[in-house]
Amino acid sequence: MSAFETIRYEKDGGVVRVTLNRPDVLNAVNLQMRDDLWEGFHAFRDDPDARVLILRGDGKAFSAGADIGDFGTAPSLVEARRARRERDLWALLLHLPKPTIAAVHGYALGAGCEMSLLCDLRVAADDARFGLPEVGLGYIPSAGGTQTLPRTVPPGVARQMILTGDPIDAAEAFRVGLVHRVVPNEELDAAALAWAETLAGSDAGVLAAAKAAVLRGLDLPLADGLALESRLAAQLR
Ligand code: COA
Repeated sequence: MSAFETIRYEKDGGVVRVTLNRPDVLNAVNLQMRDDLWEGFHAFRDDPDARVLILRGDGKAFSAGADIGDFGTAPSLVEARRARRERDLWALLLHLPKPTIAAVHGYALGAGCEMSLLCDLRVAADDARFGLPEVGLGYIPSAGGTQTLPRTVPPGVARQMILTGDPIDAAEAFRVGLVHRVVPNEELDAAALAWAETLAGSDAGVLAAAKAAVLRGLDLPLADGLALESRLAAQLR
């Protein structure tokens, strides 16, 4: 089912599981993985039978973030910016018009943490640890984290996590609202699948409209957000 080098793409009924598959380096996100995710997310988006995406990691971690080996390898700053503009992987994930679930265990650092924040729902194993270590490495989160984290947890908590880089454990992540559920490690896949199957049973058009209303509304003043909601509701009727 999967022809990718760094991820596995598996479909079972309406549920697609994308598994980050570089366990030897804790699923660090390298350029090849970015390409594979780009293709995988498009495959999910464009398949009318694919209803819900689960994003998970193989081995002992969800993802330890950007591959440190890639740092400084872009041909030039201009080239790096152009590549990012032409292939906005993180915007693609955020705006998939279908529900997405991150099933997180072990480390979710940097882009690993940020990828989970781009998903609609997060279920964590009790050994999960979330952190944004970028500032300590001399830069800032750049897979959306400076925007998605304060839209997910209280802004003060987001500032603390981003400025200090100190990771938080699963219990704390649940307490601050970073994850929706915490389950024992061995129950993680089953919990994510059960959630995905429930969502796969809902009307796809209604789910897409609800997701668009929330995500697009977050960028709007309240009156405009309410108008957006009315338009989307009317379209469904
Ligand atoms: N990029 C590339 N390789 C990575 C990596 C990353 N972000 N994170 C981990 N790895 C590699 C390690 O180099 C190691 O490879 P090796 O076995 O060839 O030495 C392997 O994954 C296992 O990691 P290790 O450090 O031995 O595991 P650990 O359990 O002792 O520590 C971490 C886990 C996550 C605390 C530690 O690996 C770490 O700090 N990683 C970097 C996190 C980071 O800064 N990410 C960038 C965010 S922008």
